[in-house]
Amino acid sequence: MPVIEIRGVASQTSRFLPYQDEDLDIILLEWLRSQGITIASSCDGEGVCKKCDIQNGWLTCELTLRSFLERQPDGRIQIGYL
Ligand code: FES
Repeated sequence: MPVIEIRGVASQTSRFLPYQDEDLDIILLEWLRSQGITIASSCDGEGVCKKCDIQNGWLTCELTLRSFLERQPDGRIQIGYL
């Protein structure tokens, strides 16, 4: 089963989260939260606060799992505060 790797820069740890085809069209912010990953946000996905960014300034509230994987095929997400 394919996985998304969540790499916490602060903690220097990784979590590996399996996903399925039916998850691919879920907004990345929502999917990460459903997996127990805390993502910073003060606009709750409106695309305004810019706190939900991951590497390269990508906003998790503006990507689906599929569009994230098109940009980052290895499925690795680095989050500085985790
Ligand atoms: S949650 Fe605010 S910009 Fe993404």
